Amino acid sequence: MIQPLEVVPGFDLWPSLLSPQVQAELIADVLQAAETAPFANYATAYGKAMSVGMTSFGPLGWTSNASGYRYADTHPGTGQPWPAMPQALLDLWTQLGDPDTPPDSCLINLYRGQARMGPHQDRDEADPRFPVLSISLGDTAVFRIGGTSRKDPTRSLKLASGDVCRLSGPARLAFHGVDRILVSSSSIVPDGGRINLTLRRATPA
Ligand code: SIN
Ligand code: FE2
Repeated sequence: MIQPLEVVPGFDLWPSLLSPQVQAELIADVLQAAETAPFANYATAYGKAMSVGMTSFGPLGWTSNASGYRYADTHPGTGQPWPAMPQALLDLWTQLGDPDTPPDSCLINLYRGQARMGPHQDRDEADPRFPVLSISLGDTAVFRIGGTSRKDPTRSLKLASGDVCRLSGPARLAFHGVDRILVSSSSIVPDGGRINLTLRRATPA
């Protein structure tokens, strides 16, 4: 396995890890999943709709409404289970996430136009010893990562299609977000935009 770039302690980046073929297959999996589990713009805890469309693969999906954030075993709109996790994602997690405990959730984020994601920590998972593994597809994102306090200094980097990054150890609970998307920087997503996949282990091992 190629060595990642350690951007800040615990935040590792593998630029262009996924081939164009694998990227295209994952995008096709996402679009198929969205037919039965449509993207939704959930409300934040402040009651405002997010600009990022979300759905999930796997036994659990991350959802949000005005009463808070949670992992749910069905899509809030359809009441149906989430689509199955693609094997390619399970394999990537075995390699870069955790060799023994599979992920039980993959959040699918769709960014189009002005969509962005404000700084936040991923802390709805039971055990932060498991990393979060992130895959970027389509338009480049201007991503920002800081420390475990909102006031810590941040740095910004671009995440392009096929890049994989991991938040683990000292960066597992780091604040991070997406400032903006470089619209039309890629044409691999039909109708444009950026898809981000984040693999997680939400429940205890
Ligand atoms: C997230 O924090 O859920 C998404 C990060 C990204 O889109 O790169
Ligand atoms: Fe996140």
